[in-house]
This record gives sequence, C-alpha cells and structure tokens, in this order.
Amino acid sequence: MNTYATVVLAAGKGTRMRSTLPKVLHPLAGVPLLAHVLNAVEAIPSSLAFAPYAKSISSTRPIVVLGHGAGQVETTFGERCLYAIQEDQLGTGHALLAARNAVEKLEPLPEVVLVCYGDTPLVGSEILARVLVEHQERQATVTFLTAHTTLSSDFGRVVRDADGRVLEIVEVKRATEEQKRIDEVNSGVYCFDRSWLWPALEALPRNASGEFYLTDLIGIAGAQGGEIATVTGTLDEAIGINDRVQLAAAGKLLRQRILEQCMYAGVTIVDPDTTYIDAEVSIGSDSVILPGTMITGKSRIGSACQIGPGTTIDQSVIGNHCIIRNSVLEEAILEDEVHVGPFSHCRPGAYLARNVRMGNFAEVKNSYVGAETYMHHFSYLGDATVGEHVNIGAGTITCNFDGVRKNRTDIGDGAFIGSDTMLVAPVTVGEGARTGAGAVVNRDVPPGALVVGVPAHVLRMRQPVDVDGSAQDGSEKE
Ligand code: UD1
Ligand code: CA
Repeated sequence: MNTYATVVLAAGKGTRMRSTLPKVLHPLAGVPLLAHVLNAVEAIPSSLAFAPYAKSISSTRPIVVLGHGAGQVETTFGERCLYAIQEDQLGTGHALLAARNAVEKLEPLPEVVLVCYGDTPLVGSEILARVLVEHQERQATVTFLTAHTTLSSDFGRVVRDADGRVLEIVEVKRATEEQKRIDEVNSGVYCFDRSWLWPALEALPRNASGEFYLTDLIGIAGAQGGEIATVTGTLDEAIGINDRVQLAAAGKLLRQRILEQCMYAGVTIVDPDTTYIDAEVSIGSDSVILPGTMITGKSRIGSACQIGPGTTIDQSVIGNHCIIRNSVLEEAILEDEVHVGPFSHCRPGAYLARNVRMGNFAEVKNSYVGAETYMHHFSYLGDATVGEHVNIGAGTITCNFDGVRKNRTDIGDGAFIGSDTMLVAPVTVGEGARTGAGAVVNRDVPPGALVVGVPAHVLRMRQPVDVDGSAQDGSEKE
C-alpha cells in the first residue's frame, strides 16, 4: 500500500432526522457532522498509530459521496474534498460504487480504499489509522472496525463462527432474535483492497429491503476465502447519528471531551454539567468558566478571564484578564482587562478597547469604544466611535436610526456625557466636551463645550479635560 483513498458516504437523506437540512450538515458542538469526520480523516497521517508508515504511505483529498442536498454540502466544504454523486440513494454499497470513477482518476492509483460514514462524528484519527495499519499488516481483503455493546441498538451485528472468524455482518432489520443478542457491532469504518472492491460491489445483490448494503461485502469476501480482519474500538467513537436523540447523545459525549481538554489545558470549568463549549473555541489558561455559560463558534478567549455565570459568547474574541458576567456577546472583540455586565449585550461589530467598563444593562452594536471608557448603567451605543477616557452617563442613548438610515455618532477623547443624554445621530461630540443631564444633542458639540437642554445649546466653553478624565474645573468623573 503506497497510497490510500478515503471515501466518506454522505448521500443519504437522513429520513430519521425529519429535517430539511442534509443530515451531515447538522451541527455538533458548532461544527457540521461531516466536518468532524473530515477532521479525523485529515489527521490520520499525523496520528501515532500511523507514524511507522507515515513516510511510505500517502493519501489524497477525501472523496465525499453526495446525493440528498449535494449542492448545500458542496458549498459548505468547497475545495476541501473531491465529490462523487449518488443519484438515487440505493444503499451504502451503491453509494461506494458511485465513488468508483473519482477513485480511479486519482494519481497515483490507491491500493486501498478507506471508507467511513459522514454520520459518525466521534470517530477519531487514531482509530482510523489503526484500521489502515491492521489492513496493511494482515494483507487483508477487508478490514473493518467493530465495537461492543449489550444495549439494544441499530448497529449491524458481527457474526463469527465458533473459531472467531467473521462470517458476515447482519443488519438489525434482517437479524434473527439470536443475532440481535450479539454484542459485537459494526462501527462503519472499512478498508478494502481496491482491485477486489469494484468487481465485488458490482456483483453485490440487491437485498430484501431493495438496497445494496456495503455490509454484505463482508460475507462475500469470507465466502471467497478472503482475509477479513477487524479492529475493535470503543462504542463512543462508533456512534452514528440517525435521529436527533442520537445527535443529542453524541453532543453530550463530545461536550465532555471538549470540557476535559479545556480543563487539562488549565481552564477551570466550575460546573461541567451546565457549560457548553464548541469544538473550535479556544480558551487561555487560568480562565474560569462559571455555570450556565455557552461559548460557541470560533470564539477565542484569553487567559485569566472570568466568564459567567449565565453568559453566552458567540464568534467573539476576548483578550486577557476580562470579566464577563451574565451577558451576551456576539461577533464582538474585547481587548485586555475589559469588564462587561452584569446583564449587558455586545452585538456584532462591538469593539471594546483595553480597560473598558460596560455594565448593568448596556448594549453596544457596531461601535468602537476607546480604552478606559466607562459606561456603567443603562446605555445604548449603536454605530458610534467613542474615544478614550469617555464617561457615558447612565441612560445615554445614541439615537442612530432616523426611520430610514442608520447614522453615526462620534464622541471625542475625554468627553463627559451626562446622564440621560440623547445623541441624535449623525452627531459629533468634540474632545473634552460635556453634556448636561437630560440633554437632547442634535447638533455637533465643539471640543470643550458644555451643552444642556432640549434641544441642547452651548451653555459655556469649558477648560479642556485631562486624558485621565478629570475635568480641570474640578468636576468629578461619574
Ligand atoms: C450503517 C451500517 C451498519 C452500521 C452503522 C454504523 C449498512 C448497510 N449498515 O447503518 O451496519 O452498524 O452504519 O453507524 O451500511 N448513505 C449514502 N447513500 C445511501 C445510503 C446511505 O451515502 O444510499 C450514507 C449516509 O448518508 C450515511 C451512511 O451512508 O452517512 C450510513 O448510512 P445509514 O443509513 O445511516 O446506515 P445505518 O442504518 O446507520
Ligand atoms: Ca447511520
């Protein structure tokens, strides 16, 4: 074996999911089922089991067999795979045959075809490599992965003779009561000798269910006297997702794995039972995740942060030493030492620079908030650019929507926005300017001015404000 090709079967309709979304696109820990399988396939060459062969055996891009929802799957994965189309879903044997042309076009031609299913997301690269290596060492016709379970399940059962030789795989639908009690099951990962595979698939009979079962190849290989090897893995990694109950069960197992990885990497998870972290999230060491927290998408969290309780963070980047309590962050960026919450909402495009304090029922959307700026209570910043050392008084609102357009608000460094100020955009508040409580600001405020009233007018020009935020006229920062 110099080259192996991997074929992932993903054409099935996924009827049991009762969904308009193709089964293999259903997310598990934030990543589509098929992506988990592809991750494992792509990691085979760097797995430990594969190390002795890594120099002598190469692989090509995986070939994914698509049918139901093919366009959607192809759009999701693009150049990452090669694709073959199975026009009618006539079973897993029929699906593999649909990949024949794609495999035969590969250069160099692979001697071995590794097959796995797009709906077994917990299969890992180590176990895939072990199946390949076993196949190589035993010079087998077929090698496949099994697992043991005494629970009732919809896995195919592995039937062996008295000497332990594999006779066939029997699907549950066609199994006798005695066969259903067999505790060794088919995990759905196979290696085939390529030159044997295609003629055998072509000769595969349609079974009583009207389908061509890939699993029937095992009995055929055995009857021909071919060598059948097996590798036994764990039941967890074999779990196949046929319905949403299995989706939730696999999600739970994967979540446990992710949380353990985080904990071993130095993250404290106070309550793993109520903490949800997606597969592509990264969290720095000494961060503490408090109960009731979901961190999803490709979020990145720095070290020594405190996140939660009751916090949702999606697709966001958070620096070091941040504290986020009882809040929701979506597509937001926070530099170091930012505090958010309790009960605040960073919406897409929120950028909070170093040491910003945003707390108590505040909302920021599509806005840059400069370093050391404080907005402690009940405020909304939308489509705004806020400088450094600004104080946003309680109840301040950027009135960014005029009913037709979204307009921008600019607030200069060191400005002091009094409580309950309405900033009617588009509007600019100059550096070091100040607005009185309850002002409705619908015209630009010059730097250093104090404006008051409804609508706001200049009461007087003030001395400039030092960058540390303290006004030189002695008034205190709120
Ligand atoms: C299959 C195995 C079963 C094994 C289990 C492990 C067969 C006949 N049975 O059962 O022995 O224990 O997986 O999870 O293989 N697919 C196609 N085209 C088709 C039909 C299916 O591409 O015409 C794809 C599906 O998208 C899916 C995979 O093949 O990703 C497996 O098909 P599925 O119907 O889920 O098989 P199981 O009933 O789970
Ligand atoms: Ca399945």
